[in-house]
Amino acid sequence: MRILVVGGGGREHALCWAISASSLCENLYCAPGNAGISKIAECIDIQANNIKEIVRFSLESSIDFVVIGPEVSLVLGLVDELEKLGIKAFGPTAGAAKLEGSKGFMKDLCIKYNIPTAAYERFYDGESAKKYIKEKGAPIVVKEDGLAAGKGVTIAASIEEALVAVENIINNNSRLSPNGLVVEEFLKGQELSYFVLVDGTNTLPLAGAQDHKKVGDKDTGPNTGGMGAYSPAPILTDELESKIMENIILPTVKGMAQEGTPFKGVLYAGLMLTSEGPKLLEYNVRFGDPECQVLMMRLRSDILPALLATNQGTLDNFSLRWSQEAALTIVMAAKGYPGKYETGERIVGLESIKTDEALIFHAATKSKNGQFFSNGGRVLNICSTGKEIKNAQKKAYGAIKKIGWKGGFYRSDIGWRAINQS
Ligand code: AMP
Ligand code: GLY
Repeated sequence: MRILVVGGGGREHALCWAISASSLCENLYCAPGNAGISKIAECIDIQANNIKEIVRFSLESSIDFVVIGPEVSLVLGLVDELEKLGIKAFGPTAGAAKLEGSKGFMKDLCIKYNIPTAAYERFYDGESAKKYIKEKGAPIVVKEDGLAAGKGVTIAASIEEALVAVENIINNNSRLSPNGLVVEEFLKGQELSYFVLVDGTNTLPLAGAQDHKKVGDKDTGPNTGGMGAYSPAPILTDELESKIMENIILPTVKGMAQEGTPFKGVLYAGLMLTSEGPKLLEYNVRFGDPECQVLMMRLRSDILPALLATNQGTLDNFSLRWSQEAALTIVMAAKGYPGKYETGERIVGLESIKTDEALIFHAATKSKNGQFFSNGGRVLNICSTGKEIKNAQKKAYGAIKKIGWKGGFYRSDIGWRAINQS
């Protein structure tokens, strides 16, 4: 088969790595890809949000199957456009991608289908939102309703902070979505990412993982796209997994079908494990980044038949094998991220890391004359496996020391929560 992977981050490098090992994959392309991906796939210079060009390339290059990494392509309707031309794709249609694209849509679905989530209210003007915040008090959470690249959420410790967050959303017209904003109850607990393949009707649970959203050690500083992850998550017991499937995932799959927007693709539930049980914080309609990297490291089966079965509605009776080992990834980012940072800095030492120590998935790199340069905020993922998370952690931190990059940094405590728990 001729496969196109859309995206150019660490998630897409991990997907390309897994797909390239499939006996079904004859030709692998990635748009736009990065310097690491270019070693295993032909990179095509088209950005993930350029739906028209991706469709044109897929048609002209007789692509059999398009695997879509980032949410932006899904929300913009790439799957719909490909389907019109009879090109198969992995991912939801624009209608179903609203689960991630609109927090209000997701929350309303939760109410309608009795899915546990934080209590909330939707607002279309600032004054009513502010009145509600004053009534409810702090801590309280203010969310812009639309894709905001992880920057649309304010966890307000005080009423004043929440009011400022509302002001910012209202004033920032360029980003204000017609869906308005959501104000919701602050939930306390541990966060868990849970991934399930869904073919419209049937589900195939993948695995759990835990991310590290804050930029600094001990979970300090601003939120990022994710600074490291591991899988499995020790907190995810069989009993908890059954609860998540029964109370959250299955009603969602049923609800989406009943709403006329059946969900196909990977459903990524961002959960808060509260004292009242698991509650849904958010849905993402794609693999997590960097969670995908650790899932791919643990997957023992060929991924491509599973992605195809997701598209074809044949996930019933499908199963996947997983390594019992743990996988952990550390994100190496450019100093300044998630704020301003430099690009174009030389990175050395990657070749000196052996594959049994760590695999390096590139998130944002460029190569020139055989040398690697940084090309974004999150730049590299250093991924190791081990009997337990602490073993994987030791290997990954051993490997990262071999990388020379003056402008790079990483958290020194990825995996702390899991290691404390065991
Ligand atoms: P979201 O994009 O909705 O997942 O929000 C980003 C992050 O904000 C989540 O991963 C949580 O860490 C935090 N968060 C979102 N909603 C809540 C909530 N209701 N209570 C506590 N933390 C939240
Ligand atoms: N790691 C968080 C995300 O992919 O949204």
